[in-house]
Amino acid sequence: MYIREYRKSDDENKLMTMIENEEGWTYSDDNMAEKYKTALANSVTYVAYEGDVLCGYSRSVNDWGFYIYVCDLLVMPSYRGRNVGRKLMECIYNDYPNHIVYVMSDVDEYYKKQDYKRMGSIFEVPNINKCNE
Ligand SMILES: CC(C)(COP(=O)(O)OP(=O)(O)OC[C@H]1O[C@@H](n2cnc3c(N)ncnc32)[C@H](O)[C@@H]1OP(=O)(O)O)[C@@H](O)C(=O)NCCC(=O)NCCS
Repeated sequence: MYIREYRKSDDENKLMTMIENEEGWTYSDDNMAEKYKTALANSVTYVAYEGDVLCGYSRSVNDWGFYIYVCDLLVMPSYRGRNVGRKLMECIYNDYPNHIVYVMSDVDEYYKKQDYKRMGSIFEVPNINKCNE
């Protein structure tokens, strides 16, 4: 298994097909797919390959030299439990050794199991747009 940076021309179709098969991930819906492809190409995105099978990926955003925020992490079901997820997270530090990597968690239990340290939580700011009143 190896991990490398995402290349749109080589990886986009395989990655979108993988997402299509993941229950509850809507990025492959017609109206989301093009937006998501743009996001993949403009994010810090890594792919994991076993042979020529794209078996996992992570997508993160770079906060201009301060932090890296992992937004998405997905491993194909038949490749889970083999540290692919963990490696997709750890490889970010190879390319960004002076950043702190945070993950926006949907599945706390997984990250707890990896012994990640909890740092606060996410709050949604209500969009009531009264800033100029
Ligand atoms: C979460 C996910 C990325 C883990 O990938 P993975 O390659 O199997 O993870 P690793 O091999 O690095 O770690 C496996 C360990 O994590 C545990 N684990 C995996 N998913 C877990 C979950 N949802 N809750 C608790 N533990 C979990 C496994 O039991 C395993 O434990 P073990 O080492 O004691 O056997 C994968 O299950 C996945 O793609 N899930 C669906 C998408 C998702 O939830 N993504 C994360 C939020 S964006």
